[in-house]
Amino acid sequence: AAGLLKRALGSSNQQQVRCMSSATPKRKVAVLGAAGGIGQPLGLLMKLNPLVTDLSLYDIAATPGVASDLSHINTGAHVEGFAGDADLGKALKGCDLVIIPAGVPRKPGMTRDDLFNINAGIVRALATAIAEHCPEALVNMISNPVNSTVPIAAEVFKQKGTYDPKRLFGVTTLDVVRARTFLAHKKGISVKGVDVPVVGGHAGVTILPLFSQASPKIELSDEEIEYLTKRTQDGGTEVVQAKAGKGSATLSMAYAGALFAESCLKGLNGAQDIVECSYVASTVVPGLPYFSSKVRLGPNGVEEVMGLGNISDYEQKGLEALKSELMSSIQKGVDFINVKA
Ligand code: NAD
Ligand code: LMR
Repeated sequence: AAGLLKRALGSSNQQQVRCMSSATPKRKVAVLGAAGGIGQPLGLLMKLNPLVTDLSLYDIAATPGVASDLSHINTGAHVEGFAGDADLGKALKGCDLVIIPAGVPRKPGMTRDDLFNINAGIVRALATAIAEHCPEALVNMISNPVNSTVPIAAEVFKQKGTYDPKRLFGVTTLDVVRARTFLAHKKGISVKGVDVPVVGGHAGVTILPLFSQASPKIELSDEEIEYLTKRTQDGGTEVVQAKAGKGSATLSMAYAGALFAESCLKGLNGAQDIVECSYVASTVVPGLPYFSSKVRLGPNGVEEVMGLGNISDYEQKGLEALKSELMSSIQKGVDFINVKA
């Protein structure tokens, strides 16, 4: 994954590129919300990804400019921009993967749930169009509140008769990216090769990093675990405050979104042992129909939702503490589609 940019810029691993060129299938990827703070750098990273053959950039406005700009980059992906409702079907037709960073971001003092009133309707409209125009596509949901927007999309797909739980993902990769970074910084080690599973959901205490399962195995004091857990849970808020009213994480999210999308594409293309944490339909924790944990990716999307493994007492307490908030966010999403006002 770290080779994403290097490979795309053509400086490395010609052998790998040569192997892929004959065997790699065509893959069309759409970014919905492509003119936004996440959408633009994410579009750039997808344009640099050799697994992408067609890149479809959709937003309510401004996408022709973004698409024209990206299309001049001398990488393989063919780029097209689409703006406005009338173009949404064309943007989605034939897509293998749809990435959704559409919607409003937080300002200081807001929770992710405060975005529900605006973003739920946006996600409902986009999910409806996906069901109509590319029902087989994998969907990577970035729009917040992820704990609710994934159930919203699932309920839309159920109503449309296209729901396949293997193909719908809440993107929680930024939590993993943060946990890796914060752990490496705290211990003064290189971040290269550091990994930390993050489970639960994507808001406050529902974000549960499992530092007891970090690799390489790293000894941490109780204070260090407390600090790292809280910093990972509050990572989004840290950026919202630093941006002081100008939005939330965009660049690190684009990086995380591109990592996760690349793993989905590798899985679709038949690569083995592609494992990422993601918020998916799950039976890992009884009573929580959606939950983020390690997921094995493959040609059908989710091939296996993996269990939690051994977790520490501290993490067990964190798991108990997240259940009620996560369940009510899930229910809020389900009710948005099913309960008539
Ligand atoms: P932004 O305001 O910069 O961009 C959002 C884009 O969505 C805009 O270009 C807007 O025109 C577009 N949009 C609005 N309605 C649309 C519609 N109906 N169809 C298509 N596009 C539409 O916001 P941003 O900083 O890019 O954040 C986008 C979302 O991602 C927010 O909800 C934010 O909270 C979320 N986010 C999630 C994570 C995560 O880890 N999952 C991380 C960061 C941000
Ligand atoms: C993040 O974790 O950075 C995103 O969910 C955006 C936010 O509102 O914090």
